[in-house]
Amino acid sequence: MAMLEVKDLEVYYGMIQAIKGISFEVNQGEVIALIGANGAGKTTTLHTITGLLSPKKGSVLFEGQDITKVPAHKIVSMGMAHVPEGRRVFSQLSVYENLKLGAYTRKDRSNIDKELQSIYERFPRLAERKNQLAGTLSGGEQQMLAMGRALMSKPSIVLMDEPSMGLSPILVNEIFDIIESISKSGTTVLLVEQNAKKALSIADRAYVLETGKVVLEGNAKDLLENDSIKKAYLGE
Ligand SMILES: Nc1ncnc2c1ncn2[C@@H]1O[C@H](COP(=O)(O)OP(=O)(O)OP(=O)(O)O)[C@@H](O)[C@H]1O
Ligand SMILES: [Mg+2]
Repeated sequence: MAMLEVKDLEVYYGMIQAIKGISFEVNQGEVIALIGANGAGKTTTLHTITGLLSPKKGSVLFEGQDITKVPAHKIVSMGMAHVPEGRRVFSQLSVYENLKLGAYTRKDRSNIDKELQSIYERFPRLAERKNQLAGTLSGGEQQMLAMGRALMSKPSIVLMDEPSMGLSPILVNEIFDIIESISKSGTTVLLVEQNAKKALSIADRAYVLETGKVVLEGNAKDLLENDSIKKAYLGE
């Protein structure tokens, strides 16, 4: 059984259909990339999985349970975390306060400090800046904070929307190294990226979205060698 199963999703904004029958699976332990151009429907797909949008048709199964109509906060408590596009940290709160908020659904309150320590170990820059207001962090630091906040809920799967957006090449590498280490520590990753090359270099498998449909899927290594992918997404 797949950990996450998206079946025949159709999502509308008013009269406009953004997702036109998308299906895919994420197995436990995998890093899965969703790639595609601007407007292809990547963010809409993630928002539908996490319960922020409801589909007109289709379903989302998480660990065998139908979560299509489950509210977003409940989905978080089931073990799914979301690192939204554009980071969305609470700019008027400190790094520490932002991280604590990530644990709001956890019942084992006593372990939260332990989790905080492990986040600070994974992201030493956040530890150095724990009392700094999140709004004054650099773009890369805000991305780390958004990731750290998601990990505070101790998710079994984390959905990341364009984590490399707007970052310098060095920081992009750093963020991808962190995603790999999150994966190695046992968390399943669903990664949405426009940086197809980097995404495919760390993913196991990938799905290519075009105007609300999956047009191609396969092993990430094969897709890196695929001529149409090279032309359309890798600039080669
Ligand atoms: N709130 C909204 N109201 C109306 N249309 C929307 C809304 N949000 C997204 N759309 C439309 O739905 C389609 C898919 O958008 P979506 O944000 O999912 O794309 P994306 O693949 O994440 O793009 P990007 O790479 O630019 O983030 C686009 O045509 C977009 O204009
Ligand atoms: Mg998007």
